Amino acid sequence: MSWTARVFLVVLIIFIVYGAVKSLTKPKSLGVFGHYRAANISKQLSKETKFVGRETCKACHEQEYNDLCSEEPSSAHRNLQCEACHGLGVAHPKEGVALSCGCKIPDVTKQCMYCHEMLPSRPKSMPQITLKGPEAHFPGMACTTCHTNTHKPAFYK
Ligand code: HEC
Ligand code: HEC
Ligand code: HEC
Ligand code: HEC
Repeated sequence: MSWTARVFLVVLIIFIVYGAVKSLTKPKSLGVFGHYRAANISKQLSKETKFVGRETCKACHEQEYNDLCSEEPSSAHRNLQCEACHGLGVAHPKEGVALSCGCKIPDVTKQCMYCHEMLPSRPKSMPQITLKGPEAHFPGMACTTCHTNTHKPAFYK
């Protein structure tokens, strides 16, 4: 056999092995719609929804909803979801009945600092404070002493 024929044979074997392995291991629904398994869509859809969105909360907590979403005067927190602070709403409520949710915030200051702690990596547009050093923002005092309404925390002139 000439050397070119041997090279050709080797390449042919590689292609055959590749084709065989591919046809044995490729999931059936791969590539039906794109570079993913089409069967995975229904699998993801069948998962329980954990995030309910703030419109759901509005039905029973209208006051908090109106404070949070207030446009006039505008609330600084108007773009936040309730669940960003209170946790995922799946267990509370269910089918219109409020269940115990464990969504009461145990440490309000800590909660505020998750988002407002001064960090070099945070964008400048995010209002940030620190509780340490010479620029400390009223350390030792509860945030809600002054920012009396959590859902609408800023002061308006
Ligand atoms: C079907 C009505 C209903 C819906 C919808 C609802 N809640 Fe409630 N929620 C209640 C009731 C009733 C209570 C209990 C009030 C009480 O004990 O004074 C409550 C209490 C709370 C409390 C206080 C918990 C505590 O221990 O003091 C928080 C926080 C809360 N809900 C947040 C939410 C959020 C966030 C959502 C949306 C994800 C939501 N709720 C949706 C009815 C509802
Ligand atoms: C920025 C974080 C944050 C967001 C967003 C937020 N909350 Fe709250 N919420 C709090 C904190 C903190 C408290 C506790 C206030 C306190 O102890 O003075 C609270 C208290 C509550 C309470 C209990 C009130 C009471 O009298 O005990 C309810 C009900 C509630 N929130 C519902 C909501 C709903 C509904 C939304 C969305 C429309 C929402 N919250 C969005 C932080 C938040
Ligand atoms: C989930 C993140 C988050 C939490 C938790 C949170 N905030 Fe905010 N806060 C924001 C965002 C986002 C803004 C608005 C930034 C903007 O102007 O676009 C904001 C704005 C503010 C402002 C207005 C600042 C200004 O210059 O207008 C105050 C005051 C404030 N928050 C206080 C609090 C207090 C007090 C708490 C705790 C009770 C708290 N925040 C918890 C995200 C958060
Ligand atoms: C003694 C009253 C007081 C206390 C306590 C207090 N603040 Fe403030 N806070 C203010 C005042 C006054 C401003 C400036 C007025 C404004 O921007 O609306 C302010 C501004 C802010 C701002 C905006 C900063 C900026 O650069 O735009 C944030 C965020 C904030 N406070 C969060 C908090 C958090 C979180 C706590 C609790 C750890 C807290 N504050 C405790 C009075 C207070």
